[in-house]
Amino acid sequence: GIDPNFDRNREVVDEENGVEVWGPTEPPEQLGIHGTHVAVDYDICIADGACLDSCPVDVFTWVETPGHPQSDRKVEPSHEAQCIDCMLCVDICPVDAIDVDGS
Ligand code: SF4
Ligand code: F3S
Repeated sequence: GIDPNFDRNREVVDEENGVEVWGPTEPPEQLGIHGTHVAVDYDICIADGACLDSCPVDVFTWVETPGHPQSDRKVEPSHEAQCIDCMLCVDICPVDAIDVDGS
């Protein structure tokens, strides 16, 4: 699953649509972790979609990631500032790709 200490173990290398990207990245195969308060490890996400469907405040949007070995789209935490820390997305993701720093 996603490293819950990613903000200590990685560095911000980019920003996409206002969302921080934590490296290392080597597109299209390695895309890093996207978001900070709501963080999605794009290299683990398999595009299940349960997080997007369950989020009560619509934090997530789909982005296309052609050429990534796990899936050709990912959920971007585009509206992470709206997150109410309900933890539904963290609990429902089948591959544990999401970390929410709600504490
Ligand atoms: Fe949405 Fe809840 Fe996940 Fe925050 S913790 S992104 S509000 S599902
Ligand atoms: Fe990806 Fe998990 Fe959501 S696989 S689409 S982060 S439920």
